[in-house]
Amino acid sequence: MKKLLTLALGIVRSASAYAQTPTLQEVLGKYFLVGAAVDTNFTQGNDPQAEALCRRQFNSVVAENCMKGEIIHPAVNYFYWRDADKLVDWAEQNGKAVIGHCLVWHSQPPAWMFTYENGDTVSRDDLIGRMYNHIMTVASRYRGRIKGWDVVNEVLNDDGTMRQTPYYTIIGPEYIEMAFRFAHEADPDAELYINDYSLSNPAKREAMCRLVRSLQQKGCRVDAIGMQSHNGFNYPDYTEYEKSIEAFAGLGVKVLITELDINMLPNPNDFSGAEISQKFKFEKALNPYKNGLTKKGQRLFDQRYLDLFKIYERHKDQIGRITFWGLTDRHSWLNDWPVKGRTNYPLLFDRNYAPKPVLNDILKLFE
Ligand code: G3I
Repeated sequence: MKKLLTLALGIVRSASAYAQTPTLQEVLGKYFLVGAAVDTNFTQGNDPQAEALCRRQFNSVVAENCMKGEIIHPAVNYFYWRDADKLVDWAEQNGKAVIGHCLVWHSQPPAWMFTYENGDTVSRDDLIGRMYNHIMTVASRYRGRIKGWDVVNEVLNDDGTMRQTPYYTIIGPEYIEMAFRFAHEADPDAELYINDYSLSNPAKREAMCRLVRSLQQKGCRVDAIGMQSHNGFNYPDYTEYEKSIEAFAGLGVKVLITELDINMLPNPNDFSGAEISQKFKFEKALNPYKNGLTKKGQRLFDQRYLDLFKIYERHKDQIGRITFWGLTDRHSWLNDWPVKGRTNYPLLFDRNYAPKPVLNDILKLFE
């Protein structure tokens, strides 16, 4: 009986301690939006623990996948709204800002976007029309309900050249300006962002600055640059990373940390970045922490996150949002990319939806 009472008391104490622990949205929310990417299990109401965690910790959400072209616009005259509608409804019911991701992306675009039914490549004028129709239909459906859109995603190569996507090769570099103008026409009050990964890379940073300055000179609305921040336990160089925050803020736009996670597993060929097309076969050596991080690994994780948030704290007036790419370790895309079937530990909440100890140290930086 005594043991039972002690146990019950312990549960009540830990529950009340959890309830009293400050949250990300209470502490960081004083300076900028803080959010997470959520999957379709979430939008379809199949992950109540994820909903509870999101409701408690975050003041914004983004769809990990369901607003991408391939999913929301699978056929030229058919849009699949269910999951996106559910997310926007959930966010409004729970007072969360919604981020739209993403209107123009070379990866998983609408499958039909670049070819006619006979397989021929679409003409420049027709592709402009298709891009216009996609952006106008999607962005105007949620007009006034979306905080901001990732208008274009990953338009640069790591060396700073323009990514040779079908949008680029068929329309030309002006497709980016067009996309921003179409998005603004569809929802004049929505913020408009350009989003990319590995932006701590000096060549990519300079190219992004040139591109945004050019859009600004043409009178396009560009509210922010999204630094995806798919980081790793040994990349990027945080000095270069901070230089990029400063360079982007110097353009007079907000800096968004849009897809934050820290990959704790060794990558094949030691590559970094987030090029989704990269895939590698499973090898045991690439999955060293199947049963949990080592103490050394946990210390490295804590230090990488703390050093990163010290940078964010220094630039809290220039940062508009920090979004984690997933709610907990169990939800992370990094369990299956670039190698399927691994056990990764990239986020601040563990597989049991519990906050990791370093979260309190991060919050203390902002209190
Ligand atoms: O939903 C289908 C499922 O029905 C099917 O059985 C399964 C077969 O593999 O695929 C499922 O779709 C997958 C989808 O995630 C949902 O899980 C796609 O194959 C898979 O390609 C897709 O991966 C997403 C990836 O973008 C490509 O769209 C990841 O979840 C998502 O985290 C990742 O996010 C991107 C950002 O949008 C842009 N920045 C880089 C970031 C990481 O690549």
